[in-house]
Amino acid sequence: MANKDTTDPVRMEKIVSLCKRRGFIFQSAELYGGLNGCWDYGPLGAELKRNLKDYWWRKTVQERDDVLGMDGSILTHQDVLKASGHVGGFSDPMVDCKTCKGRFRADNLENLECGQKPSCKPGDHKNCELTEPRAFDLMLSTKLGALASDNDPKAVAYLRPETAQSIFVQYKNVLDSNRIKLPFGIAQIGKSFRNEINPRNYTFRSREFEQMEIEFFCRPEDGMRLTEEWLQTRLDFYGEIGVPREKLHILDVPDGERAHYSKKTYDIEYEFPFGIQELEGVAYRTDYDIGKHQGASGKNLEYFDEETKERFIPHVVEPSAGCDRTVLAVICEAFDEEEITNEKGKSETRTVMRFVPRMAPIKVGIFPLLKKNEEQVRICKEIQKSLQPWMTVFYDDGGAVGRRYRRQDEVGTPFCVTVDFDTLGENGDDTKGTVTIRHRDSMEQERLPVEALLPWLLERIR
Ligand code: GAP
Repeated sequence: MANKDTTDPVRMEKIVSLCKRRGFIFQSAELYGGLNGCWDYGPLGAELKRNLKDYWWRKTVQERDDVLGMDGSILTHQDVLKASGHVGGFSDPMVDCKTCKGRFRADNLENLECGQKPSCKPGDHKNCELTEPRAFDLMLSTKLGALASDNDPKAVAYLRPETAQSIFVQYKNVLDSNRIKLPFGIAQIGKSFRNEINPRNYTFRSREFEQMEIEFFCRPEDGMRLTEEWLQTRLDFYGEIGVPREKLHILDVPDGERAHYSKKTYDIEYEFPFGIQELEGVAYRTDYDIGKHQGASGKNLEYFDEETKERFIPHVVEPSAGCDRTVLAVICEAFDEEEITNEKGKSETRTVMRFVPRMAPIKVGIFPLLKKNEEQVRICKEIQKSLQPWMTVFYDDGGAVGRRYRRQDEVGTPFCVTVDFDTLGENGDDTKGTVTIRHRDSMEQERLPVEALLPWLLERIR
């Protein structure tokens, strides 16, 4: 098992470089020097992220009878976040360096670099002069309405720091508008915003990021058991998207280190190339949140149990995952380099993203063997059109087929289809109407009739 300090900066550099070169992830506003802590997903990154969110939604909402979805607003009423304790209470400890003017998260100094040359961790350089830690507010606010004056406190709204709160404040509406009983969950995917002091490790700690959260409401006596069940469900999920169990670590967060509202929290951590870091928290939040909103709003948020005739505030188990962090874990896990012998008998390094097919941004590459052969091109285009309603397809006729395979390997396309002279029947009737399918991982090839392609692929990419 890797320890917390095991890192591989060279591997990380290669991953970052591939992500930019092939259009997975770009620095936001790079043209203008970059907006720190913000990232844009390029065409392949957007597909990958969408695949992750779709699969999470399918497993969490569609395939379960006890979880409903919602999509809350990002702009959040200040009273919601006052009641939850975020306004005035959501902060990280920060220190300033009087010499280099740097600002650092005080609880993470050992992983940061100071502004002195040669750089060491803040406080270690002989010229460093750090202040005492003070609380730095992580909340991002804005003003709403055309008439909002700069100092009208009522016009202040917040960009939500977690998606959870809109679920808590809508729990009663969801309950009343659906025939559902405890235990049940509400799931949401959406953007959250935190003014992180030191955004770092690529997309890992950002100021704008996406969360995939479930608030699972239950009777008080079921909270601990459901926390264990959700932990297992979430671990299984990571396996299904290509993050194997042996690379995940479970941190049973000890008393005193958990959020004040939590009776039990597991952090699911992954062995990133920059160290073992949190992907998701599975927290038993008790009745804290609903209780707070009931108190602050003055509205009755109790659940009425028809069978036992009891009224009570439901307890909540919360599996809360970071979408961007999971995308990064999937990318880090998929990245591989191997030495192979190419068609010319020479050794070369093959870079291959070994995404599980359901996560791969492009599912299938389609190539005519010869781009000048009109019949091959026509069949390719026909295949492309027939597959496009079902999956992302990439047509490529540039350069030797071997080079086209390498380009698809580098972005993780699990299958490539080649239309050749056999397809046209030029080498006999046996292979007429068949195409070559080449497998990314083994590089092995097989032939398949064109009409069998769609079901063959669908079986492998879901
Ligand atoms: N509702 C509970 C909650 O928000 P959290 O541990 O603060 O708990 C949950 O966040 C998940 O959101 C984290 O495990 C992480 O995956 C993701 N996350 C939190 N802050 C992040 C940041 N600054 N950048 C990227 N992802 C972040």
